[in-house]
Amino acid sequence: MMDKLFILSLLGLLLVTAYGAAGKMVYTDLDILDELENFDVLVDDDDDTKLLDWPSFTSRHSGKNLVNVDTFGAAGDGVSDDTQAFVSAWSKACSTSKSVFLVPEGRRYLVNATKFNGPCEQKLIIQIDGTIVAPDEPSNWDSKFQRIWLEFSKLKGVVFQGKGVIDGSGSKWWAASCKKNKSNPCKSAPTALTIESSSGVKVSGLTIQNSQQMNFIIARSDSVRVSKVMVSSPGDSPNTDGIHITGSTNVILQDCKIGTGDDCVSIVNASSNIKMKNIYCGPGHGISIGSLGKDNTTGIVTQVVLDTALLRETTNGLRIKTYQGGSGYVQGIRFTNVEMQDVANPILIDQFYCDSPTTCQNQTSAVKISQIMYRNITGTTKSAKAIKFACSDTVPCSHIVLNNVNLEGNDGQVEAYCNSAEGFGYGVIHPSADCLYSHDDKGLDQTHKSEEAETGHDEL
Ligand SMILES: *[C@@H]1O[C@H](CO)[C@@H](O)[C@H](O)[C@H]1NC(C)=O
Ligand SMILES: *[C@@H]1O[C@H](CO)[C@@H](O)[C@H](O)[C@H]1NC(C)=O
Ligand SMILES: *[C@@H]1O[C@H](CO)[C@@H](O)[C@H](O)[C@H]1NC(C)=O
Ligand SMILES: *[C@@H]1O[C@H](CO)[C@@H](O)[C@H](O)[C@H]1NC(C)=O
Ligand SMILES: *[C@@H]1O[C@H](CO)[C@@H](O)[C@H](O)[C@H]1NC(C)=O
Ligand SMILES: *[C@@H]1O[C@H](CO)[C@@H](O)[C@H](O)[C@H]1NC(C)=O
Repeated sequence: MMDKLFILSLLGLLLVTAYGAAGKMVYTDLDILDELENFDVLVDDDDDTKLLDWPSFTSRHSGKNLVNVDTFGAAGDGVSDDTQAFVSAWSKACSTSKSVFLVPEGRRYLVNATKFNGPCEQKLIIQIDGTIVAPDEPSNWDSKFQRIWLEFSKLKGVVFQGKGVIDGSGSKWWAASCKKNKSNPCKSAPTALTIESSSGVKVSGLTIQNSQQMNFIIARSDSVRVSKVMVSSPGDSPNTDGIHITGSTNVILQDCKIGTGDDCVSIVNASSNIKMKNIYCGPGHGISIGSLGKDNTTGIVTQVVLDTALLRETTNGLRIKTYQGGSGYVQGIRFTNVEMQDVANPILIDQFYCDSPTTCQNQTSAVKISQIMYRNITGTTKSAKAIKFACSDTVPCSHIVLNNVNLEGNDGQVEAYCNSAEGFGYGVIHPSADCLYSHDDKGLDQTHKSEEAETGHDEL
């Protein structure tokens, strides 16, 4: 309510000073703020799939059917190949209703690349209390599983839980990466855990570490809740995104602690209604939307909220990254209550992103970025350009809103940079983002522009 009053007074001031065009603009912005405040993420909260305490289904009377991988011949010694035992146990658990696929604690199970396919009978729980470890030698990896280690697909209403660890043993994969040594070929590597084409999935408590490449992918799924998950890979491990969301809707990430060598969270094409709450990120490359638009592709990401996060010593903070030549749009994004500690590029829109061995040329087409809000973002920056909106010359960023942003440099001055970015700020904005001007009429002369900028950014 308080904030709306701010906007209303801003609106009043602009109507007085900005000759109509900008006034119309602010009406639109007001609608957008409302929209960003009010959308919610829908995740099925079916009582039957509520997270269960371990004792409640170990008791004889729980009505659960325990399927222990040990019963199917798993050795759990970290040396013997337990793949076949896992596959057999899965087939039993998946075809039995109310079953618990159990990986017992205190043991290490060496498991090869495997697809665990559904659909399964109802009320399946995947209880991982022990450690699942991948074979560490890339040259023995089954080439038909180049991109996966443990993949679960076509699941409905399944719970993954436990205090166990999924360990990709990635060090030899990292050394073989072209990011580590330019004479290596650029090849894809497996993702430790993938949830594919599923719905109504909950993942809670697990640790995913040392993945060969990305740690955890949620792909082409709907209604997924991830809570209290920890991701841990070295800060210099290449392309090891923490949690990567693609083609998915209604996803909640909550109470997750992520330290890795690439983005802590990355959200890419065809994803919407994503909510992140209480996220710790570091080391890592920050929380990213994108990359999008590589090789002239279409990228669409809408309705993403991050509320409450701590980023420590990451190489980026809140980042939207798109390639030149793409199409599609990023729209309706809200970052709130984020603390930065020694973060490089804390607030960044980069429409000239280029992660490729060859240089990327500027093009006329780009992924359109609009309705992006940064609210209550504080802390310290390593970069002088604490706020950077590097937007496409031909497809400008629009409706960027800053509210209560306070970023301090460690040594001296910080500044904002804009290229082709339009929006406004209110409340405290430091460094002041005067470069972000608010008007939708290119015909307005320079005097009016700066008048608006002053009204919009400084006096409020
Ligand atoms: C895993 O699969 C590969 C390729 O099929 C095979 O050579 C290897 O023996 C399997 N087991 C382990 C533990 O690597
Ligand atoms: C990079 O790889 C090449 C070829 O495998 C090898 O000769 C070279 O020593 C490697 N460089 C580093 C820095 O590891
Ligand atoms: C992005 O998603 C849309 C569907 O929403 C699809 O048509 C398009 O091909 C996807 N782009 C890429 C690069 O996969
Ligand atoms: C993308 O489009 C541009 C302009 O049409 C073209 O020059 C370029 O070759 C295209 N790139 C790819 C990877 O298709
Ligand atoms: C802004 O952030 C601070 C500290 O991170 C928090 O205490 C405060 O409640 C936040 N304000 C709003 C409006 O959420
Ligand atoms: C692309 O355009 C941006 C913004 O105008 C400019 O800063 C950059 O130098 C250009 N890059 C190339 C490769 O032309």
